[in-house]
Amino acid sequence: TTTYPFFGAHQAGIVTPAQDRLHFASFDVSPETTRDELVDLLTKWSYAASRMTQGLDVSASGAVGGSPFAPPDDTGEALGLPPSGLTITFGFGPSLFTDDSGTDRFGIAAQKPPLLEPLPRFSGDAIEAARSGGDLCVQACADDPQVAVHAIRNLTRLGFGRIVLRWSQLGFGRTSSTSTTQQTPRNLFGFKDGTANIKAEEAGVADEQVWVQAADGPAWMAGGSYLAARRIRMLIESWDRVSLGEQQNIFGRNKGEGAPLSGGTEFTEPNFTAPGAEGGDEPVIDMKAHVRLAHPDNNAGSRMLRRGYNYVEGNDDLGRLDAGLFFLAYVRDPDQFIAVQHALATDLLNEYIRHVGTGIWAIPPGAAEGGYVGQTLF
Ligand code: HEM
Repeated sequence: TTTYPFFGAHQAGIVTPAQDRLHFASFDVSPETTRDELVDLLTKWSYAASRMTQGLDVSASGAVGGSPFAPPDDTGEALGLPPSGLTITFGFGPSLFTDDSGTDRFGIAAQKPPLLEPLPRFSGDAIEAARSGGDLCVQACADDPQVAVHAIRNLTRLGFGRIVLRWSQLGFGRTSSTSTTQQTPRNLFGFKDGTANIKAEEAGVADEQVWVQAADGPAWMAGGSYLAARRIRMLIESWDRVSLGEQQNIFGRNKGEGAPLSGGTEFTEPNFTAPGAEGGDEPVIDMKAHVRLAHPDNNAGSRMLRRGYNYVEGNDDLGRLDAGLFFLAYVRDPDQFIAVQHALATDLLNEYIRHVGTGIWAIPPGAAEGGYVGQTLF
């Protein structure tokens, strides 16, 4: 079983090879919570995360080592399970810095990164407030769903009385690879997803596209990142009636191997000027294909580290699966996501998807051994 260190220059769970399962949670800090209590919570969270990621109980007395007269510190469902590659990643939303009425609740408003603003509205958005935003976020990824759920459950419990769970999301299959050692997985449309993603092995790319650099400011964010999250419903019953040829045309890649329609194999760069069928003056990769519009050539060289998960949560009252992609992207500047999402306004894919949830968080740098995530801010 794999174990990733919790402490380090960057938080784990970003360039870490994407694990199979996700439990993501967004919290609001209760109005009564003070700055000291918030700092205390972050300290406890980091300590608990440093233990759970190593396969340990949330505290030394844990699930069964404490007093028989008190509820156990740890809820116990991960007893005997290996660490399963668990990573826990913390983030701060715009509303942590200034609340709806503009109040600086924790004395940190002046340190709010100018780039940290709620994502704008995009065409086709059908955003539900109850699935969006939040003062704090926690991303738990692991190869065992019980381990990821255990982590979120115990962190939620540590915040009892100080924070409330706003919304949460389970993901059952990664839709991205973030390392060249991983096979490219598939999304619920059946296509390979993550082929052109940023990979941990690409020298210099993470510093250029993912990690906030000291010169970017504010100083406390150096070594951090920004996380854009979108819950994207996929209308899979409609999709399943689309011909194979049209499905491939929509993405600009073939379904079997994930190769660009301009030729080659999975990792061949698409050729956007390659002509289509003889006599036609249209290029073989449609002008509105997802891969053309999202490609760095169409976006001033911008890339993002995608780390999303498939989800299926029962069905709606029309008998359609409530299924989709919980899209997560880590970027050095939120505009890397915003610009691409604007570019996707004419995406052929839009007929088959609906963005229903949104969120943005500043992801602080990692903590030093014994410290806590967010220490550079407080
Ligand atoms: C590429 C699927 C939403 C950004 C791809 C690929 C697939 C795909 C199959 C090609 C393989 C790959 O390189 O990963 C989907 C689906 C979506 C979705 C099913 C919604 C349900 C988004 C969104 C964004 C985005 C919202 C960002 C705003 C990208 C980027 C690439 C890509 C940057 C790589 C382009 C390249 O460099 O070639 N996506 N995607 N995708 N997608 Fe999406």
